[in-house]
Amino acid sequence: MQHLITLFDITPDELRLILKTGIEIKSRLLAGDRPDILRNHVIALLFEKPSLRTRVSFESGMTQLGGRGLFLTDDVGWGKRESPADFTRVLGQFVDAVVCRAKQHDRVEQLAQFDAMPVINGLTDLCHPCQALADVTTIQEAFGTYEGKHLVFVGDGNNVAHSLALICAMLDMRFTLACPDGYEMDAAWMKRVADHYPNAKIETVRDPAKAVATADAIYTDVWTSMGQEAEMEARRQAFANYQINGQLMAAAPPTARVLHCLPAVRGEEITNEVADSEQSDLIRQAGNRMHAQKGLLVWLLNRAWIKANVQ
Ligand code: CP
Ligand code: NVA
Repeated sequence: MQHLITLFDITPDELRLILKTGIEIKSRLLAGDRPDILRNHVIALLFEKPSLRTRVSFESGMTQLGGRGLFLTDDVGWGKRESPADFTRVLGQFVDAVVCRAKQHDRVEQLAQFDAMPVINGLTDLCHPCQALADVTTIQEAFGTYEGKHLVFVGDGNNVAHSLALICAMLDMRFTLACPDGYEMDAAWMKRVADHYPNAKIETVRDPAKAVATADAIYTDVWTSMGQEAEMEARRQAFANYQINGQLMAAAPPTARVLHCLPAVRGEEITNEVADSEQSDLIRQAGNRMHAQKGLLVWLLNRAWIKANVQ
């Protein structure tokens, strides 16, 4: 049973094929074609935290592919009405896959434990693999390739940063995190990345201006992630010098693109001036959530279509 709980679940070749498939289906959509590649397929969405992009992109993406996404509310009683084993094995008889957004990463792992259906991670405290698929797609569109590109993440070494560091390692991209002391990426996660991808070009630095000097893409995310609200004030202080603003952009090449997974706290990690500038890809990047995830869904549920249609 194939899951996507982290990007460690797939190989770099598989990743490249998923990205290519998403781009192929996007180009067909832009040409007015909505092939029903997943006709009569159903996915469930099980979310413990709020979402706009992840929820709607999966639901709309499934509908455009001829299938359906079912957003499950608290009523299904996940973890409340019955054992995880019963819950998972019953759900697996009704749907072809489940997308799960969980407060704790092991909740998503638990869903996959019985191999009842493919499980897709829709964000956990540890990582956000679907976001990284869209981000690399956006870089590919901006530069014609993602190979060899330098992605600089300014801010918290959080779930989004974790998946970006890993995807860069998988695709021979360079990844730099510029963060304050104490907000580095998780050491155990980074050891796993280094063990899997010993040639990964990943570094952590303190000075954002130096970091962006060679950036192709400059990325940021909120300073306070969902679930960290109690730390908000301390984080505001810690990250005060890590804002993407006009001054930081002046230290970057004029060709650098700006990315943010959204939602943003404008005026904190990014200014309006930069978020709405010509260099910003924020809105197209969010749109690419749907396109890249279509590539993933088709790869999970109809690989024959890829064989016949994607070179
Ligand atoms: N970027 C992202 O995952 O957005 P949502 O929280 O709105 O799904
Ligand atoms: N790091 C953020 C990402 C939201 C899409 C969070 O976990 O809240």
